[in-house]
Amino acid sequence: MKRRELLQTLACAPALAVPHLAAAVTPRTLTAAPATLAAAGQASLPVWAYDGQVPGPVLRYKRGAVLDLTLHNQLPDPSTIHWHGIRLPNAMDGVPGLTQAPVAPGERFPYRFALPDAGTYWYHPHWGTPEQVERGLAGALIVEDDVPPPVDLDLVWLLDDWRLDANGRIAENFYNFHDVAHAGRLGQRVTVNGKVDLVQALQSGQRIRLRLINAANARIFALSLEGLDAWLIARDGIPAATAVPWEGELLLGPGMRTDFIIDASKPGRHVLKDSYGRGERALATLEVSGKASGARPAPQPAQREPLPEPDLARALEQRMLLGGGAMSRDGWPQESTAEREARRQRQIQGAREASPVWTINGQAHMSHDREHAAHASEFRVPRGGSVRLTFENNTAWWHPMHLHGHHFRVLSRNGAALPERPWRDTVLMAPRDRVEVAFVAENPGYWLIHCHVLEHHAGGLGTMFEVQG
Ligand code: C2O
Ligand code: CU
Ligand code: CU
Repeated sequence: MKRRELLQTLACAPALAVPHLAAAVTPRTLTAAPATLAAAGQASLPVWAYDGQVPGPVLRYKRGAVLDLTLHNQLPDPSTIHWHGIRLPNAMDGVPGLTQAPVAPGERFPYRFALPDAGTYWYHPHWGTPEQVERGLAGALIVEDDVPPPVDLDLVWLLDDWRLDANGRIAENFYNFHDVAHAGRLGQRVTVNGKVDLVQALQSGQRIRLRLINAANARIFALSLEGLDAWLIARDGIPAATAVPWEGELLLGPGMRTDFIIDASKPGRHVLKDSYGRGERALATLEVSGKASGARPAPQPAQREPLPEPDLARALEQRMLLGGGAMSRDGWPQESTAEREARRQRQIQGAREASPVWTINGQAHMSHDREHAAHASEFRVPRGGSVRLTFENNTAWWHPMHLHGHHFRVLSRNGAALPERPWRDTVLMAPRDRVEVAFVAENPGYWLIHCHVLEHHAGGLGTMFEVQG
């Protein structure tokens, strides 16, 4: 049955339609609160958790369903939830001081919006983000395909790292100048779904979908898996045009996601490895039992409604020059002596606030708490207009650049066109990279563009734009 016929049938059959619609909107509460639990290799680690779990519960919905979720904030700090990668109304985007008031301790805030696109997304706070995400507040948001690629198991692995101090607790040195000005906060303990030694048992012959989410503050993963046939089928939730065999290392920056199809064709232990930076480390293991099974044909990525296609001939062109950071003289923010002194005093008194270190087009857009609304939009575009952004990384550091509320096509890197022009919501830039992206500005409101190394954003590496409705 075609979708329209199905909807008509349901419309004529209230007895059927009611449970169907009821299933589409199931209100729920999500509580953010301190907890002590086993995580990151520690038997009892004080964390901040959604519903007492680290990572937070996997939220699963059908495409087109309405997410109806009330955040109950039981943290000692204000918070919000940002729905990373979802095309949603601006008022639901979770940016404090810009799209909503921060949710004070003890208070609640209802999030309610339709989920237009299937895929692998995630949710996290957008207040005090470097601290709140590091303490454990992050979870997967899965929107199921209308017709998913057939698999035996659909796994969600949320990758993270943790910086523990000498007592085995989460180190409290959030926002320190070194992290902010260099590669961000890297932790020595790397986990998958909060565990250091995750093992997934599989039967030979099974085909699985593996959804990987990089929820680390700053760590880039260089992922490889040897011995099993695997294909990339989606980036940042959006299906690839064709399945791409997974060979060698795949870079996954903070905020980014990749969906793989993997065939458990050979028995034995197959280790997902990260080889970013120095050395190589095991992240998790697929343990296949049974007899070897034959190779299977490549899978097909899910089919879906196309995203709105940017009109490059008429697009607004906008340059985004990334500057500042350690080992560079260019692009450091201007701060008057009085401003610097006032900030130092606040920091000495314990304000959880970074120093301005990074700029976009010469401006530091600090992400801590209330400051978003204090900034001017970098550009304005009428609703439905196309935008072409050129990111130029004039720094010595990597930056996963993220756009709120929209998906963009990645057109080129360092002058070389990317034939598939993949859709993403976060694009990883190496030092000195130049990357062009394009998108249709769909939803009225104010939207952030920022580096997803959370310490970089805290140190000014962000901006925003306005879609005029
Ligand atoms: Cu995960 Cu402002 O983003
Ligand atoms: Cu986002
Ligand atoms: Cu960055």
